[in-house]
Amino acid sequence: MVEILGVSSGRDSKVTESLIRAILEGTGKAYEFISLSGKLIRPCEACNGCVGNNRCILDDDFQEVIEKCYQAKAIVFGAPNHWDHMNAKGHAFWERACFSGRHNSVFPLEGKLGVIAAVAGTGNGQPVIDDIEAYFEDAGIHIVEEISVQGEYACFTCGHGNHCPVGGVVDMYPLGTVIKPENIPSLINQHPDKQNLPDEERNRLNYARKMGEILSKVLETKTAKQEKFTRITIE
Ligand SMILES: Cc1cc2nc3c(=O)[nH]c(=O)nc-3n(C[C@H](O)[C@H](O)[C@H](O)COP(=O)(O)O)c2cc1C
Repeated sequence: MVEILGVSSGRDSKVTESLIRAILEGTGKAYEFISLSGKLIRPCEACNGCVGNNRCILDDDFQEVIEKCYQAKAIVFGAPNHWDHMNAKGHAFWERACFSGRHNSVFPLEGKLGVIAAVAGTGNGQPVIDDIEAYFEDAGIHIVEEISVQGEYACFTCGHGNHCPVGGVVDMYPLGTVIKPENIPSLINQHPDKQNLPDEERNRLNYARKMGEILSKVLETKTAKQEKFTRITIE
């Protein structure tokens, strides 16, 4: 059993994953990371099969992940922005976690600590943060910190991104711009289309690690079931 669990509903080895991994590494503690990429997580069917014991009965990859969530003391959950919301896979996961985990006022995730990691092609992860916040609050997870970073539109690697007028690349660069590695956003290369960004805004690795440090401190100083919880902010 590990105390700290990271879960990404983004693509394998892309920006959401790198952001979560940076937070996890920043804790300086043992952790486990799970990517939902390639996993089958069906949405809630509202079948009421969870009413008896507060466990979802649908048999897919949700089960192994939620089991680890029940065992962890802290959950770092990250998701990408799809159509101005958390992506569907993230929603599917939390629909089931929150619906199964509430019948008769039994909340199996209550009192755990949570960190929210949001990624968006534009850099505005607020809609994703709002979605995850709502689920965390419903589940009784105490939110320690939230972070949003710019991710890499899939259009950067689709092969047509630089001349597709409706893709994500033209949101950032003039049509026809040759895509080079340095043009592609990543955790350490935020908003590459913008000149003269301060280092700490260009490279968010240390900021993400700092969040892990904070999570670690909170884990050491707070008990999971405490009633009052104060958010610690990064200086
Ligand atoms: C179906 C889909 C819809 C998307 N919608 C938005 C959007 O509304 N706003 C935005 O900023 N980015 C949007 N994106 C871009 C993703 O947020 C971005 O590619 C992010 O880096 C994905 O995270 P990942 O790299 O960890 O998979 C969308 C991507 C996909 C595939």
